[in-house]
Amino acid sequence: MALVTLREMLDHAAEQGYGVPAFNINSMEQGIAILRAAEAVEAPVILQASRGARSYAGDVMLRHMVQALAEMHPRIPIVLHQDHGNDDATCLSAIRHGFTSVMMDGSLEADMKTPASWDYNVAITARVTRAAHAVGASVEGELGVLGSLESGEAAAEDGSGAEGKLDQSQLLTDPDEAAEFVRLTGVDALAIACGTSHGAYKFTRAPDGEILSMATIAAIHAKLPDTHLVMHGSSSVPQYLQDLINAEGGEMPQTWGVPVEEIERGIRMGVRKVNIDTDCRMAMTGQFRRVARAHPREFDPRKFLIPAMAELETLCRDRFERFGAAGQAGRIRGLSMDEMARRYASGALTPETATAKAA
Ligand code: G3H
Ligand code: 13P
Ligand code: ZN
Repeated sequence: MALVTLREMLDHAAEQGYGVPAFNINSMEQGIAILRAAEAVEAPVILQASRGARSYAGDVMLRHMVQALAEMHPRIPIVLHQDHGNDDATCLSAIRHGFTSVMMDGSLEADMKTPASWDYNVAITARVTRAAHAVGASVEGELGVLGSLESGEAAAEDGSGAEGKLDQSQLLTDPDEAAEFVRLTGVDALAIACGTSHGAYKFTRAPDGEILSMATIAAIHAKLPDTHLVMHGSSSVPQYLQDLINAEGGEMPQTWGVPVEEIERGIRMGVRKVNIDTDCRMAMTGQFRRVARAHPREFDPRKFLIPAMAELETLCRDRFERFGAAGQAGRIRGLSMDEMARRYASGALTPETATAKAA
């Protein structure tokens, strides 16, 4: 199947009540492992590339790599999505390179450090949405700034994260503003802030409602029942991977991520795209460490990468199953970008028509 758009995939997910994991990729091995998992459970998948991934692998390599994965797995619908686009040029060049979907993250200015004003966010997101929809690509916007409700800070290791202290009004998306933002920009999906942050060090204790505000998601969903919500910073930072890394010589301080049960709860409240990068990194790195320690004479990269891919495949398979995406692959039609562009132009695809217009 040719790559599909985020909008078509999430419309289907909304209609059927499931969530789709969006896994970050930088390399062939990550792509192979994720698609093996998707194939094993017949799940649709979102592969997303950050700006860092695009400069690491190169646009040409990423495009051909994902096209190759699509050719190898013709029954699996795949979205290729720009993660945290910082300006028009990043988003439009991604589309030119074959991405079927972009995130215009106007919650921060183009430096990806300075929290942006409402007017800036609305203007840039609406502009990118108009351009993307003209060629049938989908757009995710963000309102609210990702960061910890415990510390008021974005994660230090975060590729795109606010600098300085953030207050509650920035860290929790306001439901009324969310509705207005979606109306003014026409985005296909909305990333919201609810206390999650990027990286491994999200919470200093098992999260409760004080530091992971699922109530915010519920309130936004009540205002925007037909808008696809996106949860960033959704790695669970599983204890078994912390233990694996530390048992093999790592020094990760004890930390907590977003429990999978909370994500499942989010999916029941309109979350359709679930962003996961850190867990995938930990799965592979844990195996790299294990092999390096157990076989200090080993120098063939494949001996490290094969178990790393297997560990990643196991993790991805679990998320497809837990999010309800397993078994859904064959039910997505795979509309062309041209067809999507026609539907946007005719007014058939607005944020409010999301569930009604499922393929
Ligand atoms: O947005 C956060 C993702 O984990 C991407 O991270 O910019 O290091 O590729 P990265
Ligand atoms: P994690 O760091 O929790 O995996 O989040 C990834 C993410 O949100 C990418 O946009
Ligand atoms: Zn993110």
